Amino acid sequence: MTRREVAVDLGPRSYSVSLTLGDGPALLAERVAALAPSGVLLVADATVADLHGGPVRRALGDPPVALVAPGERSKGVAGLEALWTALREAGLDRDGLVVALGGGVVGDLAGFAAATWLRGVRVVHAPTTLLSMVDSAVGGKTGIDLGGKNLVGAFHQPSAVVADLAWLATLPAREVASGLGEAWKTAVLAGDPLLADLERAAPRARAGDPAALLPLVAACAAHKAAVVGRDEREAGERASLNLGHTLGHALEARALALGHDLPHGAAVAIGVAFACRLARALGWLDEPARARLLAAGAALGLPLAPPWPVTLDDLRPLLALDKKARAGRLRWVLPRGPGAWGLAAVPDDVVAAALSSRS
Ligand code: GLY
Repeated sequence: MTRREVAVDLGPRSYSVSLTLGDGPALLAERVAALAPSGVLLVADATVADLHGGPVRRALGDPPVALVAPGERSKGVAGLEALWTALREAGLDRDGLVVALGGGVVGDLAGFAAATWLRGVRVVHAPTTLLSMVDSAVGGKTGIDLGGKNLVGAFHQPSAVVADLAWLATLPAREVASGLGEAWKTAVLAGDPLLADLERAAPRARAGDPAALLPLVAACAAHKAAVVGRDEREAGERASLNLGHTLGHALEARALALGHDLPHGAAVAIGVAFACRLARALGWLDEPARARLLAAGAALGLPLAPPWPVTLDDLRPLLALDKKARAGRLRWVLPRGPGAWGLAAVPDDVVAAALSSRS
């Protein structure tokens, strides 16, 4: 089957995530036409626009385009101001629509511009990276970085999500691996059958085979849709989707400061492995469960430990920015087994020991 639909059930703000293989531009144009916008601004990652923009622009009837330079550095105040200016120049009114074509940076940035332009216009996400298909395009989190990841933002659900797995054909291997980091996180939270499916499909998934990835992306989107449907604004259960992100975001910020290259999904994978170690140390995971979860990450070719030496003191100021912290205390999302999780405050000595562990 080359088409999957996943419903995100949020009452009047419900929408569908459409996954397809080969006819993305036509499907995107169909979904946009159904929303009957007064005008469209296409916000596209500059590299994606070169590779896949032509058919998308033609299908959408050649709307104005705002290009975003690839990379996390575009997701700041300057990048946001450039999009607001493009929205003004495009004359987008309250019935207009932003279409975001690209990965997580474009989705978060264009989504936040849409959330704030004229106090909110609609957005359709057309994610082109595995990471954004699996996670960031679904659920309505938008925002920019400000000396820490996603510190300024808004919940703003899209009106539709359309992803063509054929867009993954041009995705660099490191970006496929990055998406698999979020897919592994989701599988740890969802448990079986997704975890077993991911274990089985690991070699084809690593190779970026779109036919193998399509059902996995659909299952990840379905898990996220169910969680967001129950807890849209992260009052409780949605925090589980931050598994691996407390350490992951701190490592990303440190990598940026040190000039190291660390894709988001790789940082999340290191964070998920770390969470498994913490959970084992607290007795939340037994040894077979810890070994199975880490083996699944290894089979996907994911990094399971920081690629450079790092201490708790290096990370402490970055960890303090975690949005789950309450009254100055960090709370870690930890697995309790495949398909089960909880939040825990973990003593510093346990965190420090897990940071230096490679097993
Ligand atoms: N990426 C986690 C969330 O959307 O809640």
